[in-house]
Amino acid sequence: EPLIITDKDEMRKWSRSARAQGKSIGLVPTMGYLHEGHLSLIQQSHIHTNLTVVSIYVNPGQFSPNEDLSTYPSDFQGDIQKLKSIPGGVDVVFHPHNLYDYGKNEGFVKNSEHEEGGKIVSCVENSGIGHETWVKIERLENGLCGKSRPVFFRGVATIVTKLFNIVDPDVAVFGKKDYQQWRIIQRMVRDLDFGIKVIGAELVRDDDGLAKSSRNVHLSPEEREKALSISKSLYNAKFAAENGQVDCKELRDTVIRAIQEAGGKVDYAEIVEQESLESMKEIKRPAVFCIAAWFGKVRLLDNMEINV
Ligand code: PAJ
Repeated sequence: EPLIITDKDEMRKWSRSARAQGKSIGLVPTMGYLHEGHLSLIQQSHIHTNLTVVSIYVNPGQFSPNEDLSTYPSDFQGDIQKLKSIPGGVDVVFHPHNLYDYGKNEGFVKNSEHEEGGKIVSCVENSGIGHETWVKIERLENGLCGKSRPVFFRGVATIVTKLFNIVDPDVAVFGKKDYQQWRIIQRMVRDLDFGIKVIGAELVRDDDGLAKSSRNVHLSPEEREKALSISKSLYNAKFAAENGQVDCKELRDTVIRAIQEAGGKVDYAEIVEQESLESMKEIKRPAVFCIAAWFGKVRLLDNMEINV
C-alpha cells in the first residue's frame, strides 16, 4: 500500500525522517495515467534506492493556453492499482492539488499586458496565479520541442526543481522517451548543483512499436495504425545509418515522407548529437533521431539513438 501524500509540507517531513533513518530516496516525476513506460522508471529507482516516491501532478506551468491541459488524461485510482501491482511497489505517491498555490493569491496582474504584447504565457500565468520565478536552460531548450512549445521546458525545469526541493531525493529517474527533457534535467542538475543522480531509462514501446504515452489513448484505432509509420521509419533510418547511409538530410527526407504519406503532420524530424542536441550533417558521432508528429489531435514523440 503506497502512502498517499497531497500536502507538500507533509511530503518534506516524510523525506526528512526517511533520511534521518539512513534511507536513500528515489523520485519518479509523472503526470499520471501511468503505463509500462512509467513503471519501468520505478524499477530503475528500486535498483538505486531504498525508497521510491512517485509524483503524479499535471503541471499547468508546462502547457500553453492553446494546448491540451484540459483534456490531459487522468485516472488516479487506476494509477494507484497499477502501483500496487508492480514488484516492490512504491513507498509514496505524492499527489499535490496545486503546486502554484502559495496561500496568498496575488494574481498575475501583468497577464493581459503580456498577451497584448505578444508574449506567450503558460496556463499558470493565464490562470491569474501569483507565480513569477522560472528556471530557464538557455541553449538546450531552444531546439526540437522547444520551437513549437515555447513555455514547455521552463515549465518542466521549474516544476522538477520544485519537486526536487520538496521531495529532496538522492536519485531521480527520467525516460529517454522525452529525450530533450532528460538532457535538460541532467544539465540543470549539473549547472545548479542539485545533489541528485539523474538516471535515464530506456524508451518503452508497445508490441507493435508505438512509443508508449499517456496521450495515445486519444488516438482512434485508424490513427494509431497510421502512427506506426513513426517508429517504423525510425527503425529503417537506424538500419540505413548502420549500413553506411550517414547523410542526415537524406535520412530525414525519407522519414518525413513516410510519415506524411501515412497522413501525419511532422512538427520536426531532426538528427542531433546525443548530449549537446546540436544538429549534424553526417552521423559520425553518437546521434539521436528525434521526431514529433501530429496524428489527428495528438502530438506524438519518438526517438532512436544511432551509434554508428
Ligand atoms: P509524463 O509524460 O507523465 O512522463 C513521466 C516520465 O515517464 C518522464 O520521465 C517520461 O520520459 C517517462 N516516460 C513516458 N513514456 C515513456 C516511455 N514510453 N518509455 C520510457 N519512459 C517514458 O514527462 C512528464 O510526464 C512531465 O514533463 C514531468 C517530467 C512529470 C514534469 O511535469
